[in-house]
Amino acid sequence: MQQSNMEGRTAVVLGGTSGIGKEIVKSLAAKGATVYLSGRSAESAENAATEIGMGTIGLAVDLSEPEHIAASLSSIASVDYLVIPAIERDSNTIADYNIAGAVRLVTLKLVGYAESIHALRDRFSTNASVVLFGGLAMERPYPGSTTVSTVNGGVVGMIHTLACELAPVRINAIHPGIIGDSPYWENKDNSPIISRTPLGRLVTMQEIVHSVEFLLENTGVNGVNLNMDGGWLFK
Ligand SMILES: NC(=O)c1ccc[n+]([C@@H]2O[C@H](COP(=O)([O-])OP(=O)(O)OC[C@H]3O[C@@H](n4cnc5c(N)ncnc54)[C@H](OP(=O)(O)O)[C@@H]3O)[C@@H](O)[C@H]2O)c1
Repeated sequence: MQQSNMEGRTAVVLGGTSGIGKEIVKSLAAKGATVYLSGRSAESAENAATEIGMGTIGLAVDLSEPEHIAASLSSIASVDYLVIPAIERDSNTIADYNIAGAVRLVTLKLVGYAESIHALRDRFSTNASVVLFGGLAMERPYPGSTTVSTVNGGVVGMIHTLACELAPVRINAIHPGIIGDSPYWENKDNSPIISRTPLGRLVTMQEIVHSVEFLLENTGVNGVNLNMDGGWLFK
C-alpha cells in the first residue's frame, strides 16, 4: 500500500473523470487526501468517483459556463490543493473557423479556470496550492490547434498575475507536450513527435502526476510554467 502523506488534506480536481486528471485523482486519493473530482455532468463525475473509490466525491462543473461554477463548488468546505486539467478540445483552423467551439474552449480555460479560483479562494487553507494546465501546442502548433495554442499561451500569463494576486497561496502550471499514453493521443501515430524528442519516447501520465505533486507540495515553487515534454522543444 502507498505511503499516506496527504491525510487530512482536501484536493479538488476539475476535469478529473478521464486522462491526466483521473490519474491525478487516483494518486492524491491513494495518498490519503479527500478528493473532489468533476466532469461536465453529474453522471460522468459520479461514475468516475465510483470507479476510483477511496472516498472520492463527484461533482458536475461545466467550466465553459462560468456563471454556474460558484454554485457547483458550494459544497466544498476547504481546499488545500486545487488542480485544473479540464479541457473540451476544439479542433479549429483560421481557414474553417468554428466560433462556437472556439468560444467554449476560450471560456473554459481563460474564464472558467479563473472563476473556479475566484469561487474557491475564500476556502483556501493557509498553505493552499493551485496547479493549472496549459500545453506546448502554444509553442509547437499542430493542424487544428488554433484555439488550443492560443489558450495555452493565456495560461502562462494567468500564472504570472495570479502568483501575485493569490499570495501567499501558490500557483503554477504544467505545460505537457504530447503525453503518449493519454486517451487523446494513445491511438495516434506519434512517431514523428517521438523522433524529435531527446528522450526517444513520449512523457507519460504518471510523469505528469509526479510533476503536479511536486508543484503542489514544494513550498518554494511559485509562478512557474513547467514544460513537461522530454526536451521536445529543443530538437
Ligand atoms: N493529453 C495530452 O497529451 C496533453 C497535451 C498537452 C496539454 N494537455 C492538457 O492537459 C490537460 C488534460 O488533458 P487530457 O488529455 O488528460 O484530458 P481529457 O482526457 O480529454 O479529459 C478532459 C477532462 O475535462 C473534463 N471536461 C471536458 N469539458 C469540460 C467542461 N466544459 N467543463 C469542465 N470540465 C470539462 C472532462 O470531463 P467529462 O468528459 O466527464 O465532462 C475530463 O474530465 C488539458 O488541460 C490539456 O490541455 C494534455
